Amino acid sequence: MNMQAQRYFIVLLGLMIGSYTMASDWRHSDSADQKLQNLIDALPGTSHWMFEVGERYNNLYWAAKQGKWEFAEYQVEEIEKLVQLVQLTRPKRAATAQEFLDSAIPPIKRAVESRQWNSFKFGFGQLSIACMHCHVQNDHAFITLPPAPKGASSPVLNMGATVLSPPVE
Ligand code: HEC
Repeated sequence: MNMQAQRYFIVLLGLMIGSYTMASDWRHSDSADQKLQNLIDALPGTSHWMFEVGERYNNLYWAAKQGKWEFAEYQVEEIEKLVQLVQLTRPKRAATAQEFLDSAIPPIKRAVESRQWNSFKFGFGQLSIACMHCHVQNDHAFITLPPAPKGASSPVLNMGATVLSPPVE
């Protein structure tokens, strides 16, 4: 092959690869069954949902401490929904998740409704124990939680904290 033929060949190869990758975009080309399977595989698992639960746990504590009771209530509702998502996406955790929803959510809701720091603090301690109980039940006993988080990431609480860099004492 001379230089020019070589160049044409490379361009042609590039075009072929380009059109192949376009045609093989599974979102357009795969069967409905395969698309569904890909979506199932892409669903976030427990660790992803838990990352957010952890942030909301901190936000809940500081919302109450700042007397932002409605925001605290909202955090509890979101934690509840996230644990329900764990149930849906990871059926093997469904039973222990249900135990948590039944036993831990109603008391923390009541503690927030009381709008009293002391009742809240007690309720939050109970919540923390219930969270860790599920970790033990699911072979993750090493994931422990602070009874009094040092910071929270929500801008609503304006603590200068972010998810990636918690405040230094
Ligand atoms: C259904 C049981 C269950 C409940 C209820 C539960 N967790 Fe978890 N949590 C897990 C499991 C399992 C993991 C480990 C994730 C994995 O291996 O996929 C985890 C991981 C975590 C992590 C580590 C996330 C990371 O990767 O950095 C945090 C933080 C966390 N949970 C907080 C909480 C808090 C706060 C609560 C209560 C409000 C809670 N969890 C309730 C099962 C649970």
